[in-house]
Amino acid sequence: MQRVILKDKTFVPYITSDKILESVKHMAQKINLDLEKEMPLFLVILNGSFMFAADLLKEVTIPCEISFIKLASYHGTSSTGTVTEMIGLTEEIKGRTVVVVEDIVDTGVTLEKLAILLAKKEVKQMKVASFLLKPDAYKKSIVVDYVGMEIPNAFVVGYGLDYDGLGRNMKDIFVLDK
Ligand code: IMP
Repeated sequence: MQRVILKDKTFVPYITSDKILESVKHMAQKINLDLEKEMPLFLVILNGSFMFAADLLKEVTIPCEISFIKLASYHGTSSTGTVTEMIGLTEEIKGRTVVVVEDIVDTGVTLEKLAILLAKKEVKQMKVASFLLKPDAYKKSIVVDYVGMEIPNAFVVGYGLDYDGLGRNMKDIFVLDK
């Protein structure tokens, strides 16, 4: 794998596509066992989660529904901590098991805001599936039920994750070169 340049920054290879798919498979297996009787609604948080969601949900074999929503909370390489509303939710979610599908949980600000929004809609329970988690940055108490990989507090791109809009289409994950 080659290093990549996106705008003014250089990124070096970090997690290969093979490793990613292996851990996504494990996540799906756990979900299949845990939520078999729940008929969950997977709520995919756009834009970053589109690639992870596609791979994960191909391996989810239990009856389920899938919906896509958008939130805005992040600009450049540091979290702004501001989140607007959920856009695009058309399903009735009261009383349902909702699985939030996230690309990465960093500070957890996004997740906390989302948890409040879902609680207001009286869901039965919220589960969280995030491909990446940065434990050193995570400051909230909401349990991330399904995690693909834990990574240090570094900025990564690829597999749906972007730097200023670029890099989402790469199938491997790259990390910012120091
Ligand atoms: P949080 O609210 O701080 O947990 O940030 C969550 C959102 O920030 C994610 O859904 C991503 O869109 C973005 N984000 C956090 N860390 C990274 C990163 O390393 N690369 C790209 N985007 C990131």
